[in-house]
Amino acid sequence: MLFAINTTKQDNKMERTLLKDLQSKINCDVVVEGWVQEIRILSKIKFIILRDRSGDMQCIALKNHTTDSIFEMINSIQKESVVKIMGKISENKESRWGIELLIGDLQVLNQSYPIPIDNTDKSATELEKRLDYRFLDTRNFKNRTIFNIRSKIARILTNFFDNEGFTNINTPKMTCIGVESGAALFEVKYFDRVMYLSQSPQVYKQMFVAGGFERVYEIGVVFRAENSNTTRHLTEFTGVDFEMGFIEDYTDVMDFIEKMIKQLLKELKQSCVEELKLFDVNIEVPVQIPRIPMEDAKEYLRTKGKNLNPDDDLDAESEKILGEWVKEKYDSDFVFVTLYPWSVRPFYHMRPDGRPDLTKSFDLLYNGVEIATGAQREHRYDILKSQTRDKGLDLDEMKEYSDIFKYGIPPHGGVGFGLDRITQRLLNLPNIREAVLLPRDPKRMKP
Ligand code: 4AD
Ligand code: MG
Repeated sequence: MLFAINTTKQDNKMERTLLKDLQSKINCDVVVEGWVQEIRILSKIKFIILRDRSGDMQCIALKNHTTDSIFEMINSIQKESVVKIMGKISENKESRWGIELLIGDLQVLNQSYPIPIDNTDKSATELEKRLDYRFLDTRNFKNRTIFNIRSKIARILTNFFDNEGFTNINTPKMTCIGVESGAALFEVKYFDRVMYLSQSPQVYKQMFVAGGFERVYEIGVVFRAENSNTTRHLTEFTGVDFEMGFIEDYTDVMDFIEKMIKQLLKELKQSCVEELKLFDVNIEVPVQIPRIPMEDAKEYLRTKGKNLNPDDDLDAESEKILGEWVKEKYDSDFVFVTLYPWSVRPFYHMRPDGRPDLTKSFDLLYNGVEIATGAQREHRYDILKSQTRDKGLDLDEMKEYSDIFKYGIPPHGGVGFGLDRITQRLLNLPNIREAVLLPRDPKRMKP
């Protein structure tokens, strides 16, 4: 025998109980584990507020009840240390939980140094510093809830796509082609040549519509070398992209998105009741999402003193004004702005017959901020070739892309969402960085 190391669970070991499950354990002995959130020392009684992933709980030590050594040892425990506590649950109408844990035994599993940020609900620590110490920041229940909701959004969307016959694909994040706009690419040294970080799975989505899948989606990281320091832009974000073949028109894509948004909000409303309350969010599942052609949107903006030319894109202010308008007029948090000018869209967007100045495209705004851009794609090789020429590009120089259109590709369309933006808008977070665990922006590269 080498060492006497246990490889099977001991029969007499008491299972850990999560703090949220203690309500049903009154008068029972339990084992709990977690972080010391608060500690209060009085002469005859000591309080520890313990926190685990499920919630928190008051634990008390009493002078003539708890062993002397443990009663003393509590004095030396730092906040945020990790402890294991054994004890009995009793009712206490005075406590916020209606119960408390009377400490029988306590082990410090890992002593903490004094922590550099305030991670309580009333924290006055500024966002930048919280992000420097994000792993301490997410010990706060509300902050962690953002990511539990975000995780649920991704799961609901994944299930939705699966049920609708989509295949989840993973496409390269180092690539040699970008189709969104040349300026927004990060270069990567790749042995003795240069590659780029993927600015969208656009090319690959279309490739595998043509590859016989017809319907594909990807939830994955997207890189943009945009030097913008706003509350809605990052240099690395999570895209929710899908592409679907055999559509008749770009409106089929919007119809599908509408179904997706309704399903998402319905399921969130049902399954995140307590979580949403924390953010004072009352989800309204839309009956119908209004669709406003860009020309009409600009006409309305003019009445608000915002003059945009036919060739202009919407700026943040315009999106905000339109968001308020649809809220008032249609009681809707969402709006599709449709038929964007050709001047502000990439070469691969299809143009309506007889209107080469427009594209069969749309943006989806949520509470006045763009969360998605989509379109029907131009799938006819010759027209695509002339469209690239129009934008000063050459399709034949993008062989990997142009090949997709030579061997039978169905009419198709798709969209890209930002998962970070969806989460931010849903929870009314003031900054997209609140919805990203470790954001990357022009100034933030760590941790
Ligand atoms: O509007 P974008 O650039 O569109 C595309 O990438 C197209 N390939 C989509 C398509 O299928 N036609 O990006 C899509 C979405 C935006 O609507 C926004 O939600 C998010 O991605 N996004 C960003 N999120 C955070 N930071 C940034 N810098 C973002 N840029 C885009
Ligand atoms: Mg866009």
